[in-house]
Amino acid sequence: MKLTWKLAASACVVAAALSGCERQEEAAAGGEVEVLHWWTSGGEAASVAELKKMLEEKGDTWKDFAVAGGGGETAMTVLKSRVVSGNPPTAAQVKGPGIQEWAREGVLANIDSVAQAGNWDGLLPGVVSSVMKYEGNYVAVPVNVHRVNWMWANPAVFEKAGASIPTTWAEFQTAADKIQKAGLIAVAHGGQPWQDSTLFESIALGVGGASWYQKAFVELDQVALNSSTMIEAFDTLRMVQKYIDKDAANRDWNLATAMVINGDAAMQFMGDWAKGEFTAAGKVPGTDYVCMPAPGTAGSFTFNIDSFIMFEQKDESAITAQAHLAEAIMDPKFQEIFNLNKGSIPVRLGMDLAKFDQCAKDSSAEFSSSSQEKKLVPSWAHEMAMPPANKGAMFDVVTAFMNTPGMSSKDAAAGMASAGKI
Ligand code: BGC
Repeated sequence: MKLTWKLAASACVVAAALSGCERQEEAAAGGEVEVLHWWTSGGEAASVAELKKMLEEKGDTWKDFAVAGGGGETAMTVLKSRVVSGNPPTAAQVKGPGIQEWAREGVLANIDSVAQAGNWDGLLPGVVSSVMKYEGNYVAVPVNVHRVNWMWANPAVFEKAGASIPTTWAEFQTAADKIQKAGLIAVAHGGQPWQDSTLFESIALGVGGASWYQKAFVELDQVALNSSTMIEAFDTLRMVQKYIDKDAANRDWNLATAMVINGDAAMQFMGDWAKGEFTAAGKVPGTDYVCMPAPGTAGSFTFNIDSFIMFEQKDESAITAQAHLAEAIMDPKFQEIFNLNKGSIPVRLGMDLAKFDQCAKDSSAEFSSSSQEKKLVPSWAHEMAMPPANKGAMFDVVTAFMNTPGMSSKDAAAGMASAGKI
């Protein structure tokens, strides 16, 4: 028990007859926070453990509500059923336009008082704070900034095959051929819809560039969706697919990362939560592995911001504990330690990055420069760009394409256009 609570408790013993003491003791003993998330891999679990620690330091109890499954699709299904049954958790990992959808249901708490006390408006980039608010009030708190358009490469595998790490999709093909000829796996991938779309998203950005990406995946522009650029992006996906091993079906993303870590595969196209796995395995960037933008995407940045929506609470101690959770997430100490483990960069502006590695420093520099050059775009595969229904329909198209060798790129592009119209 912390000293201040001890004092509060003993004051209550003395003044046992005074009203309000019971309540004071209850608040002092802390409340419970039940937090739904899908952070279950090695790097993710190490990161979320830091949040639990900070809450416990504030005297609150952490009730873990982890629902395994990269990308969070299963977690979202579970969340819906909990809310429908009238029993929402304190907070849940929900992102982008999904935040607005939940707020429209009228089930979220207004956390403006915490945000004002913490000067969130001054500490968050405008693109972030606007997504965290519904009708001008904060209903969610952001955790980090992930960059999705990364390629993770094992230089020793490239060396064995006499191949160079690619910066374009044409160079990728040359390198991947050499790696395959050397009897090694070129691309570590897991055949799950969100991973298929994560890969396709980076390919599409590399093939079409940021302004086409913005039109297609953010504005859902029919011409951009059903364009020759989209067809070329699917052609490129078909080419890349040749270099994925036959056991990829339903492989978890962190197991694919492990293939690169262990030297069983040359590269993975994945957001920088993959770096959390390299970090957890004690690997050092620049030596054991290399982080590079996915081919053709240097200077562009697909952002993916993790955040927690806060559900309305009835109980006083739950409201206080929820405020503690929101405060803790924006605390500079948490922003540093969490993001060091998670592979992302702090979302809070003005943080010292001295303890961060080169991949994080590059990410931070490109987050700013891409924003100035209009090459900062939201990741649609990670819920940031379009309503969940459109995203789901696009996932179906990309995964059908991956699983149907006879499906043409032209049909896939037409499918993306239909998915954009839902
Ligand atoms: C989340 C990350 C998470 C990843 C894999 C992404 O959608 O933003 O925080 O690590 O999925 O589960």
